[in-house]
Amino acid sequence: MADLHIETLHKYYGDNHVVKGIDLSIPAGEFTVLVGQSGCGKSTLLRTIAGLEYADSGSISIAGQRVNDIAPKDRDIAMVFQNYALYPYMTVFENIAFGLRARKTPAQEITPKVQAAAKMLAINHLLDRYPRQLSGGQLQRVAIGRAVVRNARLYLFDEPLSNLDAQLRDEMRGEIKRLHQELGKTMIYVTHDQIEAMTLADRIVLMREGRIEQQGAPLELFEHPATKYVAGFLGSPSMNFIPAQLHSDASGLCLNVAPGISLALPAARFGHMQDRVGSQVMLGVRPEHIQRQGSERPAMAPVHVDIELVQPTGSRTFVEFKLGDSTTVAELQAHDVQRSGERIALAIDMNRVILIDPSNERVIANGRQA
Ligand SMILES: Nc1ncnc2c1ncn2[C@@H]1O[C@H](COP(=O)(O)OP(=O)(O)OP(=O)(O)O)[C@@H](O)[C@H]1O
Ligand SMILES: [Mg+2]
Repeated sequence: MADLHIETLHKYYGDNHVVKGIDLSIPAGEFTVLVGQSGCGKSTLLRTIAGLEYADSGSISIAGQRVNDIAPKDRDIAMVFQNYALYPYMTVFENIAFGLRARKTPAQEITPKVQAAAKMLAINHLLDRYPRQLSGGQLQRVAIGRAVVRNARLYLFDEPLSNLDAQLRDEMRGEIKRLHQELGKTMIYVTHDQIEAMTLADRIVLMREGRIEQQGAPLELFEHPATKYVAGFLGSPSMNFIPAQLHSDASGLCLNVAPGISLALPAARFGHMQDRVGSQVMLGVRPEHIQRQGSERPAMAPVHVDIELVQPTGSRTFVEFKLGDSTTVAELQAHDVQRSGERIALAIDMNRVILIDPSNERVIANGRQA
């Protein structure tokens, strides 16, 4: 178990600047998830930590030791690759034992280690089989077993569940989380799936075009995003972004979304916006913070809308409507709306909205007390 410290790391492929000055400190034992769109540099960063790519500048330290010039095999890192490959002519046992043998682990230690890892991953009944005799999920477990059987300082996972169907993915996600709880190892896990990031991470590092956009605990990023990009990336369906103008009237601050649609902002949370009165802002509302009118909670701003699309999911129903010119999604109770074309009364929880400066897309009010 070791901490990882990265300073101003840059990586180029020819002219392509892929990692653009990453600073990152990961405490020992933490489960960190690197998340971001395809092509933002997640795998490159992970491969550079592992030593499979050379850093063009900056430093990487593990447990206080600079490793930039240390060969991958001497960095004491175990990695599960995006496209993991098992040795087809070796049994599951031998595949898992491979890294131990390569490191000259005494023979009598290998069997118990492989068996313990296999038991943890529920593949102990498959040790004599060959990879071609396994399902996709079983193969993926073997690949994970091969990495965790080693007593490495740092564990790196690059989208290890990408080849699985949705149900198996959910299961394996739970198993990986349990694995981390049992082993207490420092783990870095790459995914472009924001749900996976939210459910697994102690800390999410959200990357965008080779840089860190924001990092923090999952709920911290979800509830207090620093930028429109983070607000829109986390959450499904995505946050609604609605252009509005900030006004002040007799009852306090409000947002004009369209002629006749004005939403009052609770003074306790948005008082500091007073000096922006008259300016354009972007209102950010999560679909789950819009509901049928009727609850008597304070700071619920009423709106009347024409439902254009109804999408039941079973437990909840997503509806689409226009708020001003913006197509907006709300997550309602299953039976709140029957069909498109209905005109209904909704309410927006203004205690939970965020406000964004449209000129730089930074969040200027995120619902914390002003
Ligand atoms: N070996 C390579 N040579 C040249 N360019 C590369 C190489 N590997 C990656 N790239 C480029 O670097 C950028 C970042 O790639 P990377 O694989 O790190 O992205 P990623 O965030 O892991 O994406 P994904 O979610 O699709 O796996 C991409 O533009 C990619 O085309
Ligand atoms: Mg990748």
